[in-house]
Amino acid sequence: MKIKILMVCLGNICRSPLAEGILKSKLDPNKFQIDSCGTSNYHIGKKPDVRSIEIAKKYGIDITNQKAAQFKISDFDTYDFIYPMDDSNYNTILKLARNKKDTEKVKLILDEAYPNQKLDVPDPYYGGEQGFEDVYQMLDKACSAISIKL
Ligand code: 4NP
Repeated sequence: MKIKILMVCLGNICRSPLAEGILKSKLDPNKFQIDSCGTSNYHIGKKPDVRSIEIAKKYGIDITNQKAAQFKISDFDTYDFIYPMDDSNYNTILKLARNKKDTEKVKLILDEAYPNQKLDVPDPYYGGEQGFEDVYQMLDKACSAISIKL
């Protein structure tokens, strides 16, 4: 059985697609299934934002085949680890949790690289290119920490 990991942001077009692509590049696909989704329904079915596609490409990662999906309750059953990108999405998911087992699967992604600091991966959607570079570097650190731990 593969270990299953879900990356979660709001739109599933900027941050979590990058997190999915970066972690996939660090882990064996025969042993791990990594997906992403958004807590909103804003962009269901869409490809990642071009700025996320471009920053991933700069570091040799192809995320063009991803399609946005919305978080659903059954994801608590499917996944072993659920990583929201920020406090807002963390709270949205925790409100949907049905029991302690669900809750225990959810952890802020930057907690893996910076434990107990409650840091957010900032939403880069309304900002410029530098925001996407910053997000990439944060997620690369977090995904390295996850890949060492698992
Ligand atoms: P993401 O960024 O949550 O990292 O995918 C966003 C994308 C779209 C919107 C907000 C955040 N939006 O409001 O449409």
